[in-house]
Amino acid sequence: MDAQGKTVVLFACFGVRPEPWLSVLSQAAPDFEWRVWPDAGDKDEVDYVVVWAQPNGFLRQFPNLRAVLCIGAGVDRILEDTDLPDAPIARMRDEGLTQGMVEFVLARVLHYHRLMPAYEAQQREGVWRQLAAPLARDRTVGILGLGQLGAACAASLAANGFQVRGWSRTLKTIPGVASFDGPIEAFLEPCEVVVCLLPLTPATRGILNAGTLSQLWGASLINVGRGAHLVEPDLIPALDAGHLVNATLDVFATEPLPGGHPFWSDPRITVVPHASALTPPATAGPTIVANIRRSLAGETLHDLVDRSAGY
Ligand code: GLV
Repeated sequence: MDAQGKTVVLFACFGVRPEPWLSVLSQAAPDFEWRVWPDAGDKDEVDYVVVWAQPNGFLRQFPNLRAVLCIGAGVDRILEDTDLPDAPIARMRDEGLTQGMVEFVLARVLHYHRLMPAYEAQQREGVWRQLAAPLARDRTVGILGLGQLGAACAASLAANGFQVRGWSRTLKTIPGVASFDGPIEAFLEPCEVVVCLLPLTPATRGILNAGTLSQLWGASLINVGRGAHLVEPDLIPALDAGHLVNATLDVFATEPLPGGHPFWSDPRITVVPHASALTPPATAGPTIVANIRRSLAGETLHDLVDRSAGY
């Protein structure tokens, strides 16, 4: 709190342009004092930090922190901090972010479902040949992770007629979606398209590897979770062996994907620069302000991170 008794919120989202956020945030809460890192002012006065991709130990420098609000759905980057203060952390659950992910996943699933990579290859060769695509009801799509984003994508794919199965730590009830919590190998086996939307935890790190990918046959992979879900050196061999035919990767072990990395030039792989669902300030700004107001009123934050679960 500052000398005038105003709530002080610091925006410290590394690699994110602050201007579009600040115009929404300050309009949604003109009664707060908004500061933008590195102009944190008196660090004792900082009540809340809106954060993304902070350096290790960053949050520790604010001794009176009441809560941390992440602008992303995945909080693995925050939790990797080995010197994290005890303040509660909220991950982002936002209608605009969810809708963005649903649109991206639907676009990629339909692209693969309707054999667009084959037509693009035919066009490069000047080949005119019609290919029969099955209807969505004869296509099985598997979603790894049925959290806020995975559940919304699963529901949307089911509404578009696909056979949808979802794999998660606990069983979920989503209309039109078969829910599984058993061994991932058995889950993957019938999948023709696999979408990864898991949180990154010790249990899910490297879950897409030579062993699990070998359960698939002629499938397409869409990784919109985290780069570390995939054992990257296992991807091209899985494509070469025919377990996979295509992959869309939005996330990578190292971002930006280094120049010269084999993923850039493999025609079977589509590289997207971690942009499948950018958090839109217009919807997420008011979400953050509402959560801060909850905290100020002494209520528990919405979308509170369970540190022991890792998301
Ligand atoms: C983006 O990666 C997010 O976690 O929302």
